[in-house]
Amino acid sequence: MHAFLPAEGCDVFLVDELKQAGVEAWSSEQQPFVLAETLPDPPLLAFARQTLPNARELSQVSINGWADQLIEVMLATLPDDQPWHLHLWPAYGEGKAGQHRCALIHAALGERLKKRRRSLWRSWQKADAEILPGEHALVQAVLTAPDAGIISAAPAPLLQDLRAIFSPHIAGDIPHAEDKAAPSRAFAKVIEAELRLDQRIERGQTCVDLGASPGSWSYVAIQRGAHVIAIDRSPLRDDLMRSPRLQFIQADAFKYKPEKPVDWLICDIIAAPQRSMDLLLEWLREKQMNRFIVTIKFKGSDEYHLLSQLKNEARAFCTDFRLTRLCANKNEVTAFGCVS
Ligand SMILES: C[S@@+](CC[C@H](N)C(=O)[O-])C[C@H]1O[C@@H](n2cnc3c(N)ncnc32)[C@H](O)[C@@H]1O
Repeated sequence: MHAFLPAEGCDVFLVDELKQAGVEAWSSEQQPFVLAETLPDPPLLAFARQTLPNARELSQVSINGWADQLIEVMLATLPDDQPWHLHLWPAYGEGKAGQHRCALIHAALGERLKKRRRSLWRSWQKADAEILPGEHALVQAVLTAPDAGIISAAPAPLLQDLRAIFSPHIAGDIPHAEDKAAPSRAFAKVIEAELRLDQRIERGQTCVDLGASPGSWSYVAIQRGAHVIAIDRSPLRDDLMRSPRLQFIQADAFKYKPEKPVDWLICDIIAAPQRSMDLLLEWLREKQMNRFIVTIKFKGSDEYHLLSQLKNEARAFCTDFRLTRLCANKNEVTAFGCVS
């Protein structure tokens, strides 16, 4: 069984999305996950925030009992000496409910591993260490009640294979970036997509920003030292318009094409979902960019099913293709990735 943590308020849409991919899936009121017998192929789920592969549900009253169950799962699943990380979090109650219990389980696990399985204890990576999906394992344990929960253990390279539906952040949660100097809060979407993709807009690169005004995505790129070609019907904020790194073109973003391929296409146009998807696919077919971040905006949920076209077609042009409702997204899904 596999468990998926839905994006906020998206459990019904995630079940639909899995069913559309031919995967039997269900949710329950007792816990916050959507459960499925198989993983989707291709592994793309716009409405999942985190994946817990090979998950098992368990009930356990005592702290030591939780620690012992975790050890059993690890011994059964993880190869010897493979570096591994633990994400352990509570998903019940309000505020800090369950956090103290998780801290106690964490401490008990350390004590018991030190005594019973020193090699496993030694290969446990520190909480702030980077997860390398191709080389590291991840154990996820979620308390859905004080005495019940889910445990998942994913040995390498499973996380690498699932990278489009797996996040190295606990519960797939990325706090909104803050910057009061940005023209709008929309810049948090670019930062989050970069973090999930593990690729950043860098100094010296060229970005085309379609639907750029008032300019918070361009602002991020300019701050990084990139050159921006910004296309919109309206100008960007005055200080950005004066930036020597910005070239503003007042035009229809759907008709613009760069003279030569660029490092990044970033696009946050307000448009019907099919138009934004067609624009991305056209840029991909013509290999106009090396990387991209494109928002697909929805009114209601009637058109979510259109995303399957993008899932089927975009991957062929990409070394890495993601389609995710970001933490910073409203009724949007963001397509981002690297072009082959
Ligand atoms: C959500 S805003 C973009 C916000 C921007 N990413 C930011 O962070 O400041 C969408 C923009 O798309 C522009 N837009 C919509 N349709 C367009 C079109 N066909 N051509 C150019 N710009 C368009 C709008 O003028 C608007 O400024």
